[in-house]
Amino acid sequence: MKHKLKDKIFEYIANGAEQIGQETYVIGGYVRDLFLNRRSKDIDIVTLGSGIELAEHIARNLKPRPNVTVFKNFGTAQLKYRNFEIEFVGARKESYRSDSRKPIVENGTLEDDQNRRDFTINALALSLNKENFGELSDPFNGLKDMEEKIIRTPLDPNITFSDDPLRMMRAIRFSTQLDFEIEATTLQAIAANRDRIKIVSSERIADELNKIMMAKKPSVGFKLLDETGLLNIIFPELQQMKGVDIVKGTGHKDNFYHTLEVLDRIVPHTDNLWLRWSALLHDIAKPATKKFIEGQGWTFHAHNFVGVKMIPKIFRRLKLPLNEKMKYVQKMVKLHMRPIVLSEEEVSDSAVRRLLFEAGDDIDDLMTLCEADITSKNPEKVKRYMKNFKIVRRKLREIEEKDAIRNFQPPISGELIMEKFGLSPSREVGLIKDAIKEAILDGEIRNNYDEAFAFMLKKAEELGLTPVY
Ligand code: CTP
Repeated sequence: MKHKLKDKIFEYIANGAEQIGQETYVIGGYVRDLFLNRRSKDIDIVTLGSGIELAEHIARNLKPRPNVTVFKNFGTAQLKYRNFEIEFVGARKESYRSDSRKPIVENGTLEDDQNRRDFTINALALSLNKENFGELSDPFNGLKDMEEKIIRTPLDPNITFSDDPLRMMRAIRFSTQLDFEIEATTLQAIAANRDRIKIVSSERIADELNKIMMAKKPSVGFKLLDETGLLNIIFPELQQMKGVDIVKGTGHKDNFYHTLEVLDRIVPHTDNLWLRWSALLHDIAKPATKKFIEGQGWTFHAHNFVGVKMIPKIFRRLKLPLNEKMKYVQKMVKLHMRPIVLSEEEVSDSAVRRLLFEAGDDIDDLMTLCEADITSKNPEKVKRYMKNFKIVRRKLREIEEKDAIRNFQPPISGELIMEKFGLSPSREVGLIKDAIKEAILDGEIRNNYDEAFAFMLKKAEELGLTPVY
């Protein structure tokens, strides 16, 4: 079978390879994606000889001439051309030790190179040689697996996974992204080799988790992680959410599956990875706060606040960013019940104003999270919540227009208070400032200078202060 490989870049690579007399192929993810009709910008080139020399030779012939980045230690070279990132490597044979993902590398044939690859669908190669340009080399029937939507390793999966345990995460990630099934012995081998994941760096694990999170149906990946026992090793807090306790005939919902449902439900509404993480973590402290109270049933008191405290440990372990991204996730987790509580009561202006004040510009994201959180199977209940959320959203808009609370800046500064009453920094200044803020949030006064100024005079008088001018 032949593929046309229409893009000009393949002609340039083929010409360069012929000029220096090196057999050359395009291999791996790019070929897989060609057959799956996915557009890929990363091209992997494998050549029988030096990948670095081939890259440098090709770059010399290209206009404009691209820079070649050489990774001497790995024997690879990379160049960027148009939108493509092209990586060149000499065909290799790899063997592994048990304590490291770093292989011992020797030169090899195309077949050796295909043998060392992770999955049959990633081992396809297309020839860039004059005599059979575009011809497919598919020693493990990867094309058939692609048609049947199957993830399978080319060799004994125990060897493939033990060699490089990151591939266990990759199998689950591809299964989630592509909606492919992991073939039974391959899946069993993931379960059997799960402990080997411990030699993989947290960054690589987090990369795969993030790709699962960005898929159309992330729950697929998390269920596979659970099923294979990987979840308990890499993310025990999630695993602990699984299961239902029953006391006196009363159960609660399974928080693991509820969480996954919320995560899937939020996907169509956001591409923001961190909002998706917020969905994954919104109930993370339910196991830690779970209590059965006589007459009340199951409670998860303050699970949002406890969740906020658990997040830094999780982010640190997974080497996720400990910056404003994490703070955003913490904010979402902290506030995730507020709109629901609000919608259950008479929606008062001051409650809406306070929510707007705390959520700031993230208010829309918070509402998106809350709507995804409604997973009740009772259609009446769902209808009621959705209707109430509509009211909350409308009120949010009205109050924002009227009071501009979203990016609240106090209309009266501490300096002005000090100047007006001849005060140095003191408790009184804080008291007055706070009272003004509270009055605005309660709707007693509006968020503008004049009303805040008048209120300040009144408050100061109560405190026995007189203006100095
Ligand atoms: N590969 C492998 N084992 C790994 C990583 C990669 O065998 N742990 C091989 C596969 O043949 C893969 C190729 O190297 O197709 C390129 O890897 P990479 O660029 O990481 O992944 P892609 O398969 O291209 O997919 P994606 O870009 O979605 O990660």
